[in-house]
Amino acid sequence: MAEPVILLDRDATEGVVRQLVAALRLGILDGRLRAGDAVPSTRALAAELDVSRSSVVAAYEQLAGEGYLELRQGAATRVTAVQPRSTAEPAADAPTTTGAAPDRARPAGPRTGHERTVPIVADLSPGVPSTARLDERAWRAAWRAAAVRPPTTSPPPLGVPELRRAIAEHLRSARGVACAPDDVVVTAGTGEALALVASALVSLRGDDARVGVEDPGYPAGRRALARHGALPVPIPLDADGLDLGALGRALRPRRGRGLDAVMVTPSHQYPLGGRLPVAGRLALLAAAARADAVVIEDDYDSEFRHTGAPLPALASLDGGGERVVLVGSFSKVLTPWLRLGYIVLPGHEGLRTAVATARAELDTPVAGPVQLAIADYLDRGALRRHIAATRREYAHRRRMVQDALGSLDPGRARLCAVDGGLHAVLEVADRDAERVLVARLAADGVVVAPLAQYAASPPGAGGDRPGPAGIVLGYAGVGDLALAAALERIRAAVEG
Ligand SMILES: Cc1ncc(COP(=O)(O)O)c(C=O)c1O
Repeated sequence: MAEPVILLDRDATEGVVRQLVAALRLGILDGRLRAGDAVPSTRALAAELDVSRSSVVAAYEQLAGEGYLELRQGAATRVTAVQPRSTAEPAADAPTTTGAAPDRARPAGPRTGHERTVPIVADLSPGVPSTARLDERAWRAAWRAAAVRPPTTSPPPLGVPELRRAIAEHLRSARGVACAPDDVVVTAGTGEALALVASALVSLRGDDARVGVEDPGYPAGRRALARHGALPVPIPLDADGLDLGALGRALRPRRGRGLDAVMVTPSHQYPLGGRLPVAGRLALLAAAARADAVVIEDDYDSEFRHTGAPLPALASLDGGGERVVLVGSFSKVLTPWLRLGYIVLPGHEGLRTAVATARAELDTPVAGPVQLAIADYLDRGALRRHIAATRREYAHRRRMVQDALGSLDPGRARLCAVDGGLHAVLEVADRDAERVLVARLAADGVVVAPLAQYAASPPGAGGDRPGPAGIVLGYAGVGDLALAAALERIRAAVEG
């Protein structure tokens, strides 16, 4: 018989049944109560906790309804086969730790020394999609078709024609971006795409080509630019995303060198979720044109809009078609496991040549069979169906997040960035509150990313601009049960 440790708070506003349900559910997800374990009889548990038997019966019935317990007439109540998550892979876009910040919030056990081992209840690292609804038949068929193709020599540097065509078609139907297969360059994801663009910019504009980046923004993107010789220049945000006034000043400063390019996530600012309206998009393009700067549009998760109609990509608003480099990835719509993405090049001849030269230097990073398999998967319409199915799944999880965290006292925490994508942000008062919350959740087995890790300016460098504080929660890649348990802990951590 498993003996759950349950501490009831009799002064809490939360009723006994809710507390019982929460404690038992967490015990199961933690692995303290294992599949097949018998839980105490309702009579015994009621006596032990000094609560009414009907409260225990109600709690067991709710947990049976949620699928955690199996109630059988005349037999002991047992835990069903719920698998707690005990390991966690770092997410592709998980910000890396700098300075004294914690080494990602990863309480995965076992730990060495005398530290307590904390099993992971839920890994909410951002950037992890769900693959549970993958159309396995189409997936297998696509790989089979790619595998039986006789090998040729190396794949063409800019990508196999089948995939470049399939991506152009996907962008036309999913994003309303009109481009030709010749405009598409296959990449090994966004990081690799940015390496190519940075190398091209450096060859066109000289060493230390200056690229404006959102602050806070995508850390792996900044690193990729810097590694390939470009200099990321932090630009602050406003409620819609990039602060266009600040961008204008950085593009054409009174003194010194302006920007050669600017990198933006206009459809869903990463990580804060701002959405640049059409007028802002046009203003950004006009400002970039006046400064003769390239615009790098990171369109990383625009397929997942939960409210409001999707806005046109910058690439489709760029009248001359000369300025915007669209960078996309299969990491969110399929899986980062593929390491596959693309660039859509504008008509600018110099840029096209510079990217082709950089590609020749950096070599082709995506194996031919991978490219062929994904081209086939797209041609079958399987990606379109997959996006539709996962969009519903994510919309459901987003509702769970809103239900659990949307009504928190705004003086303590404010839920934002929930209009689209695969993550939400819970803003708190300041960095101290952020550190306390992350540490408390880590001790509770919930992995989240602190906003501090997204800051582009080093601490202090932003003058009186400390940047927003809070946590980023990826809700797409975890199951409903683990997400529910994590949300309960987040709520408790904020309220506690
Ligand atoms: C802002 C942003 N851009 C792009 C990506 C995709 O990156 P990659 O294609 O390198 O996996 C991510 C992934 O998590 C992201 O958060």
